[in-house]
Amino acid sequence: MKNFKIVWLYATICCVLLCGCARTSPQPEKAAELPRLEKRGDVTQLIVDGKPFLVLAGELHNSSSSSTAYMQTIWQTLKTTGLNTVLAVVAWEQVEPEEGVFDFSVLDDLIRDARTNGMKLAVLWFGSWKNGISSYQPAWVKKDVTRFPLIKTKSGASLNILSTMGEQTQQADVKAYAAMMRHIRETDTDRTVIMVQIENEVGVQGDTRDYHPDAAAKFKSAVPEALMNYLVANKEGLLPEQRTAWDKAGGKTSGTWEEVFGVGDYTDELFMAWSYATYMNAIAEAGKTEYPLPVFVNAWIVQPQDKHPGDYPSGGPQAQNHDIWRAGAPSIDMLCPDIYLPDFPSILKLYSRSGNPVFIPESSAGIYGAANAVYAIGEMGAIGYSPFGIESRGYVSSTTGIVSANDAIRDVNPLTFAYGQLSLMSQKILEHQAKGSIRAAWLRDANPAIPETTLTLGKYKIKVELRKTRNSIAVPSVGYALVMMEADDEYVVMGNDVDVTFEPVDGAHVAGLAKVQEGDFVNDEWVAERWLNGDEIQLRYDLLEAQKINQSGQGLRFRGNNSKLQKVWLYEY
Ligand code: DGJ
Repeated sequence: MKNFKIVWLYATICCVLLCGCARTSPQPEKAAELPRLEKRGDVTQLIVDGKPFLVLAGELHNSSSSSTAYMQTIWQTLKTTGLNTVLAVVAWEQVEPEEGVFDFSVLDDLIRDARTNGMKLAVLWFGSWKNGISSYQPAWVKKDVTRFPLIKTKSGASLNILSTMGEQTQQADVKAYAAMMRHIRETDTDRTVIMVQIENEVGVQGDTRDYHPDAAAKFKSAVPEALMNYLVANKEGLLPEQRTAWDKAGGKTSGTWEEVFGVGDYTDELFMAWSYATYMNAIAEAGKTEYPLPVFVNAWIVQPQDKHPGDYPSGGPQAQNHDIWRAGAPSIDMLCPDIYLPDFPSILKLYSRSGNPVFIPESSAGIYGAANAVYAIGEMGAIGYSPFGIESRGYVSSTTGIVSANDAIRDVNPLTFAYGQLSLMSQKILEHQAKGSIRAAWLRDANPAIPETTLTLGKYKIKVELRKTRNSIAVPSVGYALVMMEADDEYVVMGNDVDVTFEPVDGAHVAGLAKVQEGDFVNDEWVAERWLNGDEIQLRYDLLEAQKINQSGQGLRFRGNNSKLQKVWLYEY
């Protein structure tokens, strides 16, 4: 009995102590995982908070994020537009107004407000250059052109573009950027900031290269050994533009720039590409030492009217310069295009060569934006998409008024609608991207005219056509579709203004629709609404003609930008 009492007393004391401990000592908080890029299947995905993340973003106008008060008028629009990420400028002039004196308060507010509004943030570091030009460096840099030299043109003119030859400029930019990254590491413990863009659309404007005496001397010297070694080691995988120039000049493994790559504009451009890439790699590297977030740069892409580099920023991360950028800037993870030109698919293909991860930091909003986003994500394995100037192109609900002119005929903003659908099935999309079981179509009536396309996925060829109109209703100008193969005979389709038909790849049978449902994904789970049949799936009645092309006459109809998803089960006869 006595023993029992002692044991009981002992157990009680232990229990009290344990409970007390549990109450008083806080559980160590699990730090949120660092955002990182990860290769999954054939695509590179962005991992955020430990799982793949689809970036449904928008980029702000250049000056918006410089003021916390101004941003208060914008956050609601960003939210109602359906963004999960905002791309916002942090300007060197604002965070280091005096040399060595840093003020990150605007960035702190931006991070806090993005978090409060349920969004992630990609910081755009506007340091030495923005659109080729230098205007975001602090006044103490601007005013000291001896310490921070400008480029010279062939004719000897000085332009307001900092020269990549400015060693002190580079050091100052590195120092400020590293300070910012350190600050983000120290303050952003729940990882609101997921990526960083370094500079903006860099390259020499107004001439093919920099003629500052130091630049001219370097141009006349040997191509750096590091670059030559890279080209030799990666010879078979080089992009055709790069390989052709090198081969045409004789494939030498040493010599001056003109000896190795030939005399001409492209060599000037390659020289500048190396100069910018190595300058900016030092920035990326110093930043990653402080806090290793994924880093990208963006390209002002070549425009149809451009005749020479310098009409567009020469030496920027344009597609034809990617090998040089890879060699010179291994710490930069993505070389991204800003695509305002209409032929979005062709340009994106050019910028996704050699495994370059796909992300579009600047492009269109509205219905074009919706089609671009769907195509990039569904067909090109993109990490995400981001229209520029989103606060004036986003969706303000009808209770508060404005819908952009482009979207006035729609009952909701098409980008918002598309982002909504993509976001509700984002984990599913990311899984399909990794498995290679997703495709997408991007259609336009003109410029370029791509009124139909056929996607092969699994056992079926899937034909997507801009919808046919009856009576004299105007033909839609843009259409898109995203198709995910859920199982052998089971597909989920998202679409806008298209008809979608199926035929077996084997060519020996007809594909029939066993069942069609419309619905939505809620947290990546299919929730069916109507069962579609009859007029909703009968596309034609000339069955004999349809049969000749292995079709049943039935298919999926998507009308307008607010069509629900459709899930179809197929069979063959
Ligand atoms: C491209 C630039 O990268 C952006 O910062 C902005 O200036 C847009 N052009 C304006 O269209």
